[in-house]
Amino acid sequence: FDTIGILTSGGDAPGMNAAIRALVRAALNQKIKVYGIQRGFAGLIGGDMRRMSSASVSNIIQRGGTLLKSNRCEAFKTVEGRHQAAEALRKKGIQALICIGGDGTLTGAHLLARESGMTVIGLPCTIDNDIYGSDDSIGFDTAVNTAIDAIDRIRDTALSHERLFLVEVMGRKSGFIATQVGIACGAEMILIPEYPRALDSISHTLASNRKAGRGSSGIIVVAEGTEPGLTERLAGYLRQHGEEPRICILGHIQRGGSPTGHDRVLASCMGATAINYLQAGYTDVMVATLGRELIPAPLGDITARRKHDPRLSELVMLLHK
Ligand code: F6P
Repeated sequence: FDTIGILTSGGDAPGMNAAIRALVRAALNQKIKVYGIQRGFAGLIGGDMRRMSSASVSNIIQRGGTLLKSNRCEAFKTVEGRHQAAEALRKKGIQALICIGGDGTLTGAHLLARESGMTVIGLPCTIDNDIYGSDDSIGFDTAVNTAIDAIDRIRDTALSHERLFLVEVMGRKSGFIATQVGIACGAEMILIPEYPRALDSISHTLASNRKAGRGSSGIIVVAEGTEPGLTERLAGYLRQHGEEPRICILGHIQRGGSPTGHDRVLASCMGATAINYLQAGYTDVMVATLGRELIPAPLGDITARRKHDPRLSELVMLLHK
């Protein structure tokens, strides 16, 4: 390969910049030219790309967001859109594309590879950490720590006022953030899509926790993807049953901010490894982690299977239900 393109797509995640930096530096070290594609697949379809140098990625490893900008592109979900994208790459003489993003991005990357024959490598990067085939994703650790920090503050008020807080964390379809955050904060209860529960059963558990002298933390962590509108409905239900709950939706603060050391190192390792995978002839794979190892995992498996971590779910059942 002598010319590659890189892009970030979907929801931004802390560590995207660290990944861009590693990719650019590793590629330039191997005498590969790099085009940075702006605004994800939308910029790719529009041919919006520019050459990157070592200087263009200086002083970004510590920054949240993405230097290349990102978006969620509807046009790339169509065969026609992906065809235009492949043409734009060929026109610039780009022989391989590296896509940094979550499940939507990596699924799009897989379809592009399959339909156009373009060499494509993915980097799992989403705060949700819900990508099948990789234990870790870039951005998750930072988001978890941001939410923990926020909940530790909320807890001061919860304890002072002896008041229940429903804290909603991100996680479109999964409870990975909620589980880790809830365990780390000693939450009274964790509500995740993997274990949907009826309102009366939740209320009943809270009441028996009180009777047993448990549940003084006053924090219930709710994954946003558990059930649409669950947090509000649960608050309403609890109000009718004598509680005075407050809702706090952490939202996009979990997506921003400086990446943790863990995410910076993970992004750097994954970025450098992606260039090695290219040179070794891999395509249609992502750089995944399996335990502490980096492995090439097929992009085609992402949509076929749903990620699940039974160890964490068991802990939720044991300590926080
Ligand atoms: O996938 C990351 C994520 O932050 C999810 O946790 C959340 O559901 C979604 O993106 C929000 O997306 P947007 O910023 O487009 O509203």
